[in-house]
Order: sequence, then structure tokens, then C-alpha cells
Amino acid sequence: MKKYNNTDFNIKNVGESVELYGWVSRKRDLGGLVFIDLRDRSGIMQLAVRPENKNYELASSLKNEYVIKVVGKIVERESKNLNIPTGEIEVDVDELTLINKAEETPFEIKDDVNANEDTRLKYRYLDIRRNEIKDKLVTRSKICAAFRNYFNENNFIEVETPVLCKSTPEGARDYLVPSRTFNGKFFALPQSPQLYKQLLMIGGIERYYQIAKCYRDEDLRADRQPEFTQVDVEMSFVDQDDVINMAEGAIKKVFKDVKGIDISLPLRRMKYDEAMDKYGSDKPDLRFEMEINDISDIFKDTEFVVFKSALDDGGIINAIVAKNVADKYSRKDIDNLTDFVKTYKAKGLAWFKLTNEGINGSIAKVLTDANVKDLTERLSLEENDLVLIVADKYKVVKTALGALRCKLGRDLDLIKKGDYKLLWVTDFPLFEYSEEENRWVSCHHPFTMPRADAMDNLFTDPSKCYSVAYDIVINGYEAGGGSLRIHDGNMQDIMFKALGFTEERIREKFGWFVDAFKYGTPPHGGFALGLDRWTMLLTETENIRDVIAFPKTASASDLMCECPNEVDSKQLQELGIKVDIK
Ligand code: AMO
Repeated sequence: MKKYNNTDFNIKNVGESVELYGWVSRKRDLGGLVFIDLRDRSGIMQLAVRPENKNYELASSLKNEYVIKVVGKIVERESKNLNIPTGEIEVDVDELTLINKAEETPFEIKDDVNANEDTRLKYRYLDIRRNEIKDKLVTRSKICAAFRNYFNENNFIEVETPVLCKSTPEGARDYLVPSRTFNGKFFALPQSPQLYKQLLMIGGIERYYQIAKCYRDEDLRADRQPEFTQVDVEMSFVDQDDVINMAEGAIKKVFKDVKGIDISLPLRRMKYDEAMDKYGSDKPDLRFEMEINDISDIFKDTEFVVFKSALDDGGIINAIVAKNVADKYSRKDIDNLTDFVKTYKAKGLAWFKLTNEGINGSIAKVLTDANVKDLTERLSLEENDLVLIVADKYKVVKTALGALRCKLGRDLDLIKKGDYKLLWVTDFPLFEYSEEENRWVSCHHPFTMPRADAMDNLFTDPSKCYSVAYDIVINGYEAGGGSLRIHDGNMQDIMFKALGFTEERIREKFGWFVDAFKYGTPPHGGFALGLDRWTMLLTETENIRDVIAFPKTASASDLMCECPNEVDSKQLQELGIKVDIK
């Protein structure tokens, strides 16, 4: 068995004999002296083989990625490399064994690799040899350990829940698994262990957690995978503060154990409505300011047709200010920003600059002196500020300016590297209107506890109903979310009715679940943290695939195993399935 890691040794170990195993990361033949960088999971150890050494010939013949064993003595290096932990020492080789050869790899195993991501995904096992991926897997493991330790210390028990489940409506599209024993019937893979964890509360488990795989067949983005992992938690006999406090303890421990960062508690809380108003997002990035300002009232009497018609249609006019950069933005740059907001359905982007010669820009001519005075005051404008304005319906304005704010934050380098800004976004709407389904659907899921004041508007104005639901937001990412759950059967019935479910549909889809609530249900609530996103945040990558050992591509395929793939007709026959590709 391999007993030692390369980085177990340093200058203090000079003179000791060691037995090391690993891969040839690099060989340098200095004509008379061969240096080999031996790589193992921990890092690099330099091996030195001199011409008089009996292993010289073998050492000279080694190629990158060959697997070797070496026995030798640790000596002090002549020329040191203080950038690596073993940089002051090397191993003077006594015995060298070639364990296995390797073909030339499709890309070099090094930090700044020049290979496209598809190639790296196809040969993922080679990509994992690179520090960039390996280190992220190490951090992911540390994050899991910190969460597990925390929940174990707090009297939670880890319970596994099924992966073959019942397909339920609401949420994303399910991944389905056909049944061989019941042809024509299907299991669904769990989108989360939500219903099971609630049943565990009814089962009297009181405090549950699980590091659980979840599966959602939805459109992928840079922070979404079809198969991802949640740190899933549920507690009984709690209110919202209890759940949030427990989550904050876990968050603090992970930051401390993994990054050595002391997060101060309690974390800031912001209601959903305020987040949308000020940042145009339910996951605001608070690493920089640039709030969205409502300036509708300033233009209530305007004749400027774009603003006037937006207000007449019940819309709003909002602005963001990019401080002290007006001189950096040409007309062409602003045209690009205009194209950008158009992708968020804004019809255009009005703008002006405050220069030492006064106002200029697309709306300079339509601004009255009073407008300029009011805007200067409201937006605390100073010379060289650039003001960007969208007028439209509330949702379009907020979404477009929210996205523009984030783009400017990145473009203008307003984000400090290594900075973490955490907050809870609370009081989410209970429902959102689905244009596709033409009805109100749950924002979170149908078991979310409504805020006490929601019952008044449930059937009259669902848009005014809020829930006891909360998300943990870190640097603009939704890093987790949860809610208190309905534990009262009558209230659950009312909720299903508000969602337009008929009695038959409730029975068919959720009968097994709602029946459980008749047998003594404790008040309960919980949350789930997105482990992949946590690892992205703590390893400072924006690509979710970097933190998953064997990820899927953006189109949800696996380039390494080449799946999804066709299966044998015999397999299909057993499942009673005929493939009919349109
Ligand atoms: P929710 O759907 O908000 O809540 O998911 C919880 C967290 O999981 C992460 N997440 C994802 N990560 C990667 N890829 C995805 N496709 C993906 N989807 C979600 C996010 C998100 O905040 N059962 C509830 C939790 C509860 O109420 O207790 C749930 O699943 O970080």
C-alpha cells in the first residue's frame, strides 16, 4: 500500500528514506542528470537520477503519465523552488520501478491547459489529474465533511430517501424510469427529497439531514446541472427563526472550516419585494452597490413619449448610476448596453451623462431643468456619472436593470476577489402566474406555509400572497432555500384548491402524501443548500461542471460514457416501450 504522500516531506526530513508512488508529471533531461516531477494527489516531488545511477537508463526512458514507484533518500535541493511545499528537497533515487506505461494524453496534464472543455469532459479522468479540478473535488469533500459534522453535532440524523419515486406535478420536468414489472408505468427520479423529508417529520425523526442527489430535466445554465446535490435538512417543532439560526450555524462552520473565514451572524435579511425593487433580482449580489432607483414621480408630467406611454400603461421608470465612468463609455458602448437590456425584453435604454459642460446623452434634450435638479438630488449625481434608464412594466424594468447592474459590476471591476456577501431573502410570493399553464402555480412548492396575512387574498388576489419561505443568497447565487411547511390538513386542502387542483387530481397525485397528514403532524420546516453551488462559490469558479467529478454538458449529455444512448431492443421489449422519434 502507498503509505506516504509527496507533500508529507520537507527540509526537516532530509536524510530519510522514502517509498513514493505516482505519475510522471514532467521529465527534464539535462544531459547527464534526469529530473522527474513525480505527481500524486498531494502534489509534486522532484526525483533526481544521475548518470552513474543504475536507474539512469530507465529514468531517461520515462514519459509523461507513466506510473512509477520510487525508493530513495530525501536530500536538500541545490536550486530551490519556494512556490511548492516540497521545493527545498528532492529524492535521490535508489530504486525505480515502472508500474505502467501511458499513451500520449489528448491534452497536457497541467494548470493552464489549452484544451477545449468537450475534450476535457470526454477524458474527464485525465482532467481530474489536474490541480484545477482535483483541488475543487478536495474542497467539495471538505464542505461535505463540515456540513455532516455540524448536523451530527446538532442531533440530526442522516436518512437516505428513495431514488425511484412517484412523478408529481409542479416543479421542473421529471426524469422518468420505465418499470419492467409494471409495463407502461414509470418511476420518477426525485427533484429533491422534499416529500420524504416531510414524511420523516411525521415519522417522528424530528431532525433529519441528507446529502442527496436531485434530478431535474430543465434548461441548463452555468450554475445548473440536471443531476446535482443538495444538503437537505428538515426539523420539527420550529419557527422560521429556528430554521434560519440552525442554517446560519452550518454556514458559519463551513466558511470557517473550509476557507478560514469568520462570517458574522446573524446574516442580513431582506424581503423579496425589497430585493426586486433595489436590485431587480431575488438573488442580489451585494458585493457592490449601484441600486436601482425609482424615478417615475420625477417624470409624472413629462411629454417625452417613451416615458409618458410607459407611465400611462401602468409601468415605471427606473435608473441606475454608474459612478465616475461617463468618459469611459462611447456611444457604441452604450449601444451595446442597449442591445443587452433588449435581451431582457426592455424596448430600449435611455441614458445621459453628467459632464463638466452639463448634460448630454440620448434624453439630454427632453430633460427639463427641474428634471435635472430632481434627478441630481435623487440619484446623488456628480460629474462624470452615467445614468441608465429603463421605462416599461415593473417586471421588465427590474429584470433588465438588475441584469445590467450585474453586467456593469463585472465590466467595471466593482467586485473584490475573495469577497463574500451573504443574505437571506425572505417573504417570497406564494404564487407566480404561469403563462404556459394559464394559471397560478406555487413559487416554491404547494406545501409551503403561507404568511398569516396571505389567507385574505388567496382566492381574490393571489399576487398579494406571501409565504414563509427564505433563500440564502451568496454573491448573487441562490445557494439554498427552504420554508416552513403547512402541517394542517385543512390549510393544505385550501392551498390545493387555490392552485386549481381538483379533488380527483389531489387524490391521484398526492393522496399518499396528504393521507399521512391525518395521523398527527408536527409543525415543521427546513431548507436545502445547493452543494455544487457552494463548492463553486468557495472555489471561486463560475462553471458548475468544474466542481462535479463527472458532469453533464450544457445539453445534458455525458461525453465520456457517451450517454444518453440507444438501448437493446430486448431491453425495450421487456419495458413494453416502442421508440417513436419525431
Ligand atoms: P430548491 O428547488 O430551491 O428547493 O433547491 C435548493 C437549492 O438547490 C440548488 N439547485 C441546483 N443546483 C444545481 N443545479 C440545479 N439544477 C439546481 N436546482 C436547485 C440551489 C437551490 O437553492 N425541497 C426544496 C428545499 C426545501 O424547501 O427544503 C428545494 O429543492 O442552490
